[in-house]
Amino acid sequence: MDWGLQNRLSRIIKPKTGRTVMLAVDHGYFQGPTTGLQQPGKTIKPLIPYADSLMLTRGVLRNCIDPGIDTPIVLRVSGGTSVLKELSNEGLMTCVEEAIRLNVAAITLSIFVGGEYERQTLLALGQLADEGNKYGIPVLAVTAVGREMARDARYLGLACRIAAELGAHFVKTYYCDDFEKVVEGCPVPLVIAGGKKLAEREALQMAYNAVSRGASGVDMGRNIFQSDSPVGMIKAVRAIVQRNMSVDEAYKIYEDTKTKKATALA
Ligand code: 5RP
Repeated sequence: MDWGLQNRLSRIIKPKTGRTVMLAVDHGYFQGPTTGLQQPGKTIKPLIPYADSLMLTRGVLRNCIDPGIDTPIVLRVSGGTSVLKELSNEGLMTCVEEAIRLNVAAITLSIFVGGEYERQTLLALGQLADEGNKYGIPVLAVTAVGREMARDARYLGLACRIAAELGAHFVKTYYCDDFEKVVEGCPVPLVIAGGKKLAEREALQMAYNAVSRGASGVDMGRNIFQSDSPVGMIKAVRAIVQRNMSVDEAYKIYEDTKTKKATALA
């Protein structure tokens, strides 16, 4: 990997720990004003100090985020679908020149292995990897799981390995049983999405299990911004991912933050 690409990647996955807490707030590119992201700027601002990077679209970046922040950006560059149609029918929607203009640290797209438009999303990954390598910008491939796909080690292992083979520099996938097998078969760093909103302790346990079994961190969205204490939740996730705290210790951070906020508002 050339120096520039490594430098950008190390702004996201911290060299000291080999870990990252990415905040995923790109959901609107196909879900619109989803719960918790109705006003993205307002939701994201208090969470920025605890995030190693923000994953979002150019629209939210340009219109809702202070250009004075030094938090690295992972720019969502694929799209072209909505929840009303076939989600796998994505293409590249933002060019690398725009990514450079926005001074991003990485670019990201979804691949739909096994989906109706699998081929076009995998070809898009190859194209984006070429562009990313040309300009030293790391590519994050998101393994989107079609409704009919089983979110198991066999499927996620296949999707993550294909992403790495086609040139992704790191991959976002989901946690599953036998996750270590997914890690073993993928030659680039893996981070996990949180998926649908879980109880806070369950989400923290998932983050703990994932990093304990080889994930380089998380790229969580709904389990943070849909929490009853988003700041408490991202602090707790950070405690696990970046400070190797236990789930109990992290859950206490979440609860203490939530209580303090409630007391302050009382
Ligand atoms: C949406 C995405 C999200 O970035 C990804 O799902 C992570 O967010 P969450 O933790 O809410 O699942 O790629 O398409």
